[in-house]
Amino acid sequence: MESEFFQKRRSVLAKKMLAKTIPDEDLKKILEAGIRVPDHGALNPWAIKVIKGQKLKFIDEEIILKEFKKENPDANITQIEIESKRLQRASVVLAVLSTPVEHPKIPEWEMVLSSGAVCMNLLSCAQSLGYASQWLTEWYAYNDKMLEYLGARKNLDKISGFIYIGHKNEEPNERRRPDPKKIISYL
Ligand SMILES: Cc1cc2nc3c(=O)[nH]c(=O)nc-3n(C[C@H](O)[C@H](O)[C@H](O)COP(=O)(O)O)c2cc1C
Repeated sequence: MESEFFQKRRSVLAKKMLAKTIPDEDLKKILEAGIRVPDHGALNPWAIKVIKGQKLKFIDEEIILKEFKKENPDANITQIEIESKRLQRASVVLAVLSTPVEHPKIPEWEMVLSSGAVCMNLLSCAQSLGYASQWLTEWYAYNDKMLEYLGARKNLDKISGFIYIGHKNEEPNERRRPDPKKIISYL
């Protein structure tokens, strides 16, 4: 491996990020490199919605909080506080949609895998530039109003993830990693 980036790569929890501005040129680099993923048949079966600036607050208040209150009418003040600022933990949130198409040969499963690759690639690109980043779904990735707001086709498209990007306050600690011996075998 050319550098130790992939041996050391680590996500930073959204709640630990600093939501200061990210220069547009860095965001452009992350987006353009992020979509360079394997994609059987070059079908581009995914879409990215960039959420930044006032849109973070708008979606927090008009979609996430409203939907949360509807589903949890007895929520306490601490829960309301958390739900009212979900996206605002980050400087930018990239919502990655899996948008499979009909194809005579290429199975939908492969299109879904490719959208996961977009998420992982965006995450790695952001982290390689030194940003704090985390791949999250949380409950609102499965919420119909959120899907509709992001322009997803009903019963077809899904949210593969929200890639939160912000600034690091401190270097993250290493987390428990899988034991290679338990998951890798040589045939
Ligand atoms: C599809 C997907 C969805 C995830 N959703 C959540 C989530 O909702 N909440 C959470 O705490 N972590 C979630 N995670 C895990 C975080 O990304 C976690 O921080 C990650 O395992 C850190 O790993 P890393 O340091 O190897 O990047 C999700 C991961 C994936 C792949």
